[in-house]
Amino acid sequence: MSLIAQISDTHIRLPGQLIEGRVDTFAYLSVCIDRINALPQKPELVVASGDLADTGRAEEYRRVKAELERLAMPYCVMPGNHDLRAPMREVFRGTAALPVSGNGHLQYAIELAELRVLCLDTLDQGKEGGWLCIDRLDWLHDELAASRKPAMIFLHHPPFDCGIPGMDAIKLGNPEQLAEVLAEHDHVIGLASGHVHRSAFTQWAGLPACICPSPAHQIHLDMSEHAPLSWTLEAGGFLLHRVKHGGLTTHVVNGPRPVPMPYVQQ
Ligand SMILES: [Fe+2]
Repeated sequence: MSLIAQISDTHIRLPGQLIEGRVDTFAYLSVCIDRINALPQKPELVVASGDLADTGRAEEYRRVKAELERLAMPYCVMPGNHDLRAPMREVFRGTAALPVSGNGHLQYAIELAELRVLCLDTLDQGKEGGWLCIDRLDWLHDELAASRKPAMIFLHHPPFDCGIPGMDAIKLGNPEQLAEVLAEHDHVIGLASGHVHRSAFTQWAGLPACICPSPAHQIHLDMSEHAPLSWTLEAGGFLLHRVKHGGLTTHVVNGPRPVPMPYVQQ
């Protein structure tokens, strides 16, 4: 069995800087890390699927890195639209958290017991929406062709609509090209994204596909046509992906600090 915890959209800023003047994203990340470390079954890997930093400053990456290093298991990081490749690469250089990909993009494969984790770089620097250029799509094709081991794909921008118009407008910009690559391979077991700041599940390109919440602020769930994007402090959290014999089950771990309550026989 492989267990992978996924955290996303941590949006870390410098000490004392709150998102919208109100959200201490660092405090939420700290709780999230405590909870992952306290899981009864230790994940083999923690994937941080983008928007690690809020403004992409090296100081923000140093802050998030110091906190991620409290994890009791290996972790890896990938870029989202709030990230910048150069400072991210600089701060995580030489660590196992950001393997070198060679083509200038921050995407790479990690081998787990039962699974290959393929982290894609959907950052289109300067834009909120995502993109996968030919280089990145070719890399994915080559990685999938290189091994028949079950593979799971992580990417910041979902390639599918979630129904919230303001987020659907800034999803992955070329999902059809990603779907074309995936159609050539039959050993991808699922796809997990972030970006939307709330959990959602669908089937896309014939695969189970999901969105990871942020541990901090969530995007308000309003699917009306002209709904302005707004945020809430409803319970965030993280995802726990369980892979066994090539089958994927994803758990949403929500809310404040968990206190296990034993069932009492009636
Ligand atoms: Fe985000």
